[in-house]
Order: sequence, then structure tokens, then C-alpha cells
Amino acid sequence: MIFFEGVSKHFQDGLSAVSNLSLNIEKGETLALLGRSGSGKTTIMKMINRLVEPSSGNVWVDGQDIMTTSPIDLRRKIGYSIQSIGLFPHLTVCENIGLAPKLQGWNVADIEERVDHLLALIGLEEVKMRYPHELSGGQKQRVGVARALGADPPIILMDEPFGALDPITRRELQEECQQLFSDLGKTVVFVTHDVFEAVLMGDRVALLDQGSLIQLSSPEELIENPHNEIAYQFIEHHRFQLSLLTQTLKKRLKLLQTKPQQDLGYKLTTRDSLIEALDLFKQTGQNSLPVFSGKNYYGILRKDVLLDEIIDLLMREKQEVAC
Ligand SMILES: Nc1ncnc2c1ncn2[C@@H]1O[C@H](COP(=O)(O)OP(=O)(O)OP(=O)(O)O)[C@@H](O)[C@H]1O
Ligand SMILES: [Mg+2]
Repeated sequence: MIFFEGVSKHFQDGLSAVSNLSLNIEKGETLALLGRSGSGKTTIMKMINRLVEPSSGNVWVDGQDIMTTSPIDLRRKIGYSIQSIGLFPHLTVCENIGLAPKLQGWNVADIEERVDHLLALIGLEEVKMRYPHELSGGQKQRVGVARALGADPPIILMDEPFGALDPITRRELQEECQQLFSDLGKTVVFVTHDVFEAVLMGDRVALLDQGSLIQLSSPEELIENPHNEIAYQFIEHHRFQLSLLTQTLKKRLKLLQTKPQQDLGYKLTTRDSLIEALDLFKQTGQNSLPVFSGKNYYGILRKDVLLDEIIDLLMREKQEVAC
């Protein structure tokens, strides 16, 4: 869907912001661009919609070289959500969300229907007629996401969209967006300098340092097998917590007991991480919970088995630190 082929970007002062980047972003995946400040994340993202043009190499979007596509046609396919730009202050929530469809010449009835649909998706129908200054930070961010989805583009770019939010609202929005993008089948490029956000949001993580790609892998691979010292530094102090987030029950099916299905009113899914499983045990007070994948029943997870596994992970982490 998006393909970088030997792309470099040098700014006028000679600084090399991106060096010889080759990267393929698959249709329907969320790729997290992770790196320290100044590592080139925003520059890479802006090359996708031609806000920045490569100095050398090629960027392909949907099979077309972006330098042979008009920026207007290109941006039609791409929704953009960034924290710093924010919403247009003189437009209501409704008008902000409907802006891209309006610019693309949709008729009024279709725009209204689209805006109402998106407001329902983000759960903000009640603030539809408000102006941005009448919203909380979290509400603004939700509207920003809805605006990026406005004209139903196949590609969404998000540049540190949740940076200024409190941790709880941030986590809620991360989870909602992750679900939303996967349900809608969007191709998403998500920029962050937060390794937790990267492993939570990304199907894959591209770790950057000084304009170069250091590692491109699944979140699990990044955590369990950092390819070099820079990658290792990114995760070293958080390895245990990151493992809890990225280890899903699907990868730990051996923990399940093959007992007949019991209807306890609560269930886990194989997509749940160990931390989500722990949360559900805490919320429900149960000692065992059934695990499903869609309608398929896999077995029972016992709380003590889960806790043993978590302790095991912690001990392995401690041993590695000691080594
Ligand atoms: N328009 C520009 N002119 C000159 N240099 C630029 C320009 N835009 C970015 N740079 C430089 O390119 C490098 C990469 O910048 P970029 O904004 O891509 O980093 P980033 O990874 O997004 O950082 P942050 O996490 O702080 O947002 C930095 O050294 C920056 O100073
Ligand atoms: Mg940036």
C-alpha cells in the first residue's frame, strides 16, 4: 500500500533527516514509527502525503509514485491527524468532521449522514454543535480522529495524536482507535516516541534512529529479540511490562485447561494480552475464566496459572538483568 524505496531527505542546511529508507507498509496494517525526538518520524510521515518531498528515492502510495500524483489526489486517499494542528477553531465539531467530504464535493445529505455516523463511532453526538474551545482535550482528540476518517480515506496518518492526554484517557483512545482502524480495515501509520504506545497500536513497529531504520518487526519480536544495542536500549527497562502487553493468550494456549465449557457470564478471547486477562480476573473476582476465539471455545484459564506465568516472566527478566 505504501512503499519507500531507498528514500533520503536532506534539508537545506545539509542535515540528513532520513537516510536510505526502504519500507513496505501493508494494506490494512497499523505501522508504528517509533524513535527519539529528531529521529525522522514526522519527516517520513510527511513524505507519504507530499508535505515533504524526498531528496532521493521513491515513495509509492497505492501503486503510484507520489511525485507523479497530484498532491490533491494523493491527499484524498489520506486522512491526517496531528496534535499540534488541532481543529479549525471557527468551525463546529460537525463542520470540522464534514470538511474533507465537503472539499471533495460530497452532497449535503451524504455529508450529514457521514458526520452522524462518525460522531456515533466516537461517542460524541452530544457535542456536535460545539466549537473546539468548548471541548476537553480528550474530546478534541476524538474529533481529530473522526476528522481524519471524514472522507473515508483508506490511509490514516497519525503524528503523536495522544501526546497531551492523561494516561487513562490516552489508554482509552489508543484502544478505541486500534479497534476502529482494524474494524474499518484502514492502513495506518502511527508516530510515537513512546514504546508502550508503539507496541499497543502497531501490528509492526519501525524503530528509527538518526534517520535510519534500526529494526522493523512485530512488537513481540522487538521486545524479545532487539536486533542491536539501540533497539535494546529502547526496551531494556520496560521489558517485563511490555511482555505483559504483547503476550496474548493465543501465544500461551498451553496455559489453558481443556475442560468442558462453563457459562460464567464473562469470557476472555485469545487476542487478550496477559495484562487484559489479569484485569478481567480483578474486575470479576473469578478464579477461572473461559477463553474464546470468535465463537470457538478453547478452554479454561485459571487465575493461579496466569499469576505463575507472570511471575515466571518476571523471574526471567530479573535473571537477564543480572546477567
Ligand atoms: N523543515 C525542516 N528544515 C530543516 N530541518 C528539519 C525540518 N524538518 C525537520 N528537520 C530536522 O530533521 C530531523 C528530523 O526531524 P523530525 O521532525 O522528522 O523528527 P521527529 O522524529 O518527528 O522528532 P519529534 O519526536 O521531536 O517530533 C531533525 O533534526 C529536525 O531538526
Ligand atoms: Mg515529530
